[in-house]
Amino acid sequence: KQLKINLKEIEKGKYKYFMLKEIYEQPKTILDTLRGRLLIPEKIIYIDGIESNKDIFINAKCITIVACGTSWHASLIGEYLLEELTRIRVEVEYASEFRYRNPIVGKKDIVIVISQSGETADTLAALKLAKKKGAFVFGICNVVGSSIARNVDAGAYTHAGPEISVASTKAFTAQITVLVLLALIIGKYRSTINDRCYEFLCKELGSIPGKVDYALKTDDTIKKISQVYHNANHFLYLGRGINFPVALEGALKLKEISYIHAEGYPAAEMKHGPIALVDENMPVFVIATKKGYYNKIIGNIQEIKARKGKIIAIVNEGDIQVNMLADHVIKIPNISEILSPLITVIPLQLFAYQIAYIRGKNVDQPRNLAKSVTVE
Ligand code: AGP
Repeated sequence: KQLKINLKEIEKGKYKYFMLKEIYEQPKTILDTLRGRLLIPEKIIYIDGIESNKDIFINAKCITIVACGTSWHASLIGEYLLEELTRIRVEVEYASEFRYRNPIVGKKDIVIVISQSGETADTLAALKLAKKKGAFVFGICNVVGSSIARNVDAGAYTHAGPEISVASTKAFTAQITVLVLLALIIGKYRSTINDRCYEFLCKELGSIPGKVDYALKTDDTIKKISQVYHNANHFLYLGRGINFPVALEGALKLKEISYIHAEGYPAAEMKHGPIALVDENMPVFVIATKKGYYNKIIGNIQEIKARKGKIIAIVNEGDIQVNMLADHVIKIPNISEILSPLITVIPLQLFAYQIAYIRGKNVDQPRNLAKSVTVE
């Protein structure tokens, strides 16, 4: 008898879908992204593509980051990271807009392009336009030898391994990891961070794989919350500061694979319109970690509760105040605010997966979407 082997099924191992497998791979993929680049005992971060272009980064007046989709969300996180640690002004653009609007980019300017596949048509076109205008183009790609990787002036691979699921997860955290490394290296070159802060963040970064592993243990709580809300028609996702792009990413993940309408907002923007949507049928995810904007976030939660919205809050271990206000809490480990997106996104990825799974959707291949968008 002939044995029929389905390679894809074997690759998935114990997981029903690649997306779940890729979510669970993140402690390892982040470690792979850091491997050989972050040397904690020596307090050294080294990326060849940055070291060999040191002067360009030291003298940069402005950095433009260009990407699409989830990679665009990573770019927004990059904006917070780079501005905070390097004090260089950063602009983030959708590649599809950048390529058609005669952007002000010239010689000595740095354009960073971010793409998991390295084949996204709009990002590739934006890259070519930036090069034509004389900019120095730095790429952050996952797929080795991809078109974008081959066309940039320098770059850094994310090393997340093949991402099969259309919904990007491990590539996102790998992109953020590279952006953290980039911001720390440039910040050190430019002396915009002091040695103590640099060393502390290096150590914190080294602890991320273990903390992601811990954050994955929220899966059981998330399964229970998903049972309550899988019939909801709309979701809001709120975050502030560096966790605002994480809210956007959580909403995108839910839309992509469960086909539920979801929107991400900076929490304080609620009162400028979206709060009109809130009633007892509106579940609201709030990223309410202890650092950063905690008291402001509590105020935002109270505004939603007053309108009977349901709060699902992502909090740090040991949280008391939000715990008392929220309908559900998901507890994640403590980490510096600036590195927190690497942890806060984990429950949001798991939630999107669980909801899509309960609703019986084809998680890995959602309708109307392709893994790599190679046409306009
Ligand atoms: C992510 O879940 C999406 N499938 C999509 O937004 C994706 O991030 C976007 O198409 C960009 O792809 P890239 O990173 O390969 O360029």
